Amino acid sequence: MCSIIGYKGKNAAAPILVDSLKRMEYRGYDSVGVATFDSGSILVRKGTGKVIEVNKNLNIDQMAGKIGIGHTRWATHGGVTDKNAHPHSACKNDIAVVHNGIIENYRELKEELASSGHTFASETDSEVIAHLLEIHYNRGVKKAMIETCKRLQGNYAFVAVFQDGTIGGARYEEPLIIGVANDGYFVSSDVLGFLEYTDKAIFLENGDICIVDNSKLEIFDFEGKPIAHPITQVAWELGDIDKGKYAHYTLKEINEQRLTVVHAGRQDEAVMNKFCDILAGAKDIYITGSGTSYHSALIFKHMLARFGKIRAETVVSSESQYALASMDDKSVLVAISQSGETADVLDTVRLARNQGAEILSIVNVTTSSLARVSDGCLSTNCGPEIGVAATKSFTGQLALIYNITDRLCKNCLETERAEFAVVVENIVANQASIMKVAVQMKDASDIYLLGRSLHYPIALEGALKLKELAYVHAEGIAAGELKHGPLALMEKNTFVIMINPRDATFNDTISNAHEIKARGATVIGISDRKDDVYDYWIEIPHLKEEAYYPIAEVIPLQILAYQLALAKNADPDYPRNLAKSVTVR
Ligand code: F6R
Repeated sequence: MCSIIGYKGKNAAAPILVDSLKRMEYRGYDSVGVATFDSGSILVRKGTGKVIEVNKNLNIDQMAGKIGIGHTRWATHGGVTDKNAHPHSACKNDIAVVHNGIIENYRELKEELASSGHTFASETDSEVIAHLLEIHYNRGVKKAMIETCKRLQGNYAFVAVFQDGTIGGARYEEPLIIGVANDGYFVSSDVLGFLEYTDKAIFLENGDICIVDNSKLEIFDFEGKPIAHPITQVAWELGDIDKGKYAHYTLKEINEQRLTVVHAGRQDEAVMNKFCDILAGAKDIYITGSGTSYHSALIFKHMLARFGKIRAETVVSSESQYALASMDDKSVLVAISQSGETADVLDTVRLARNQGAEILSIVNVTTSSLARVSDGCLSTNCGPEIGVAATKSFTGQLALIYNITDRLCKNCLETERAEFAVVVENIVANQASIMKVAVQMKDASDIYLLGRSLHYPIALEGALKLKELAYVHAEGIAAGELKHGPLALMEKNTFVIMINPRDATFNDTISNAHEIKARGATVIGISDRKDDVYDYWIEIPHLKEEAYYPIAEVIPLQILAYQLALAKNADPDYPRNLAKSVTVR
């Protein structure tokens, strides 16, 4: 969604803030802004665009002051305009605020504030925070923070800088983390905001307020009661977010997947055992996730049933409020999320918890809210994923799901991980042949992806990648459903990708390919076996363990979506209208 950062210390704030915003830009990237406090005044510079562009135009990193706040925006309320960019000030310019989340009661607050003489400069929900703070600021920063938080409904984290040089932050259902450096403090939505400067972090909880005043940190609740949280040491590897030799993060992350498979296999024995014991002892299991992580949930369900003889339900997280009625204190919810901050997933966890269920999670960010509220949590260990489209994190989730399944079925899978890692490396290397297909598909307006069994979730995932990276209508279909409707869409100019390895689904899917070809559509086969029915064949290696095909199939689809994005001049790292971490409902 948005990223927020505050800094108060001994160094110039603006260059630090700009640097931090660059590292957190994956969270939101339509506008940027910074406010610094210098010689008794608050200065604000903000505009639309990416951090590098806005900084180049406005010289943000040259702003004076050792205290400041910064923001990258992913618009929710109000268009993408300079005025709607954060920070927001109130009437007297004695406060500036950056906010992540949604203030649900902003309309009534705005009306109330306007009727008492406040004028608004933006269309955002966030600006009400600045005006509320302003009303109470004459009673001190602490009072202003408490009274403001008491009036806000919704989910939020905000950081404000006040005209006396104090920084205040508050958290409610959105992450906010304090970085404790030798010479100052950070208040940030993500550890990446300060990891270059310190690995010491304090994770604020819901309902916490913090104030950094004269280099002193105070944390208290909405009633003003002091709170003590431990300082946690965060792994430095999280900071490894360099693009290296690659043109885009997405390409780097696609290329890293050999290591992803290896790293997902490195699990702490005790944590893994506890996770599997909870699963094995559950009366019923629900698996949830959003977007790509939901596709992993579908594969997990299939793996548990086929190899573990364990029944599980999948629930797409945004639908969970209508779907968990039968859950109770003998149920287990497995939540899958790369970021561990997706609002729909966290809502599902809350619901399950209220019904007494145990919570297991699979995350990539081990410092995330989801990881912290789980009874057992396994990490995909694939390092920061910056490209907005999930690529290596999906592979990491699948590799981990294979591990868990293998444990539950007492080593029934062929797990030659090192061998499989080499296979993955070869698939990643096969980019030239996929490029040829991308060239043919450049002007396609409709792409259908068909697969059965474990390959159906890959059809869904491939379609999602094509939509978000290449802005093309793409649809994943269970191949057996073709005759129940979608066949009517097959004609010349339609592209159909058949996900069709040599397993029990092969012959039926080949029959579907013939039916499609007979209607004039172009057929692309992703398979370890060539067939005349394919107009184009994307070869994948034959695998000893059939269950691993989804990883072999999804990588060519990621590459295809990436190359189509380039062919259409779209930025694969920052697809329009999307954000990496969807922390709103
Ligand atoms: C797709 C994508 C999204 C995320 C979804 C869930 O490429 O990135 O669909 O998968 O927003 O995010 P996490 O896994 O962080 O909960």
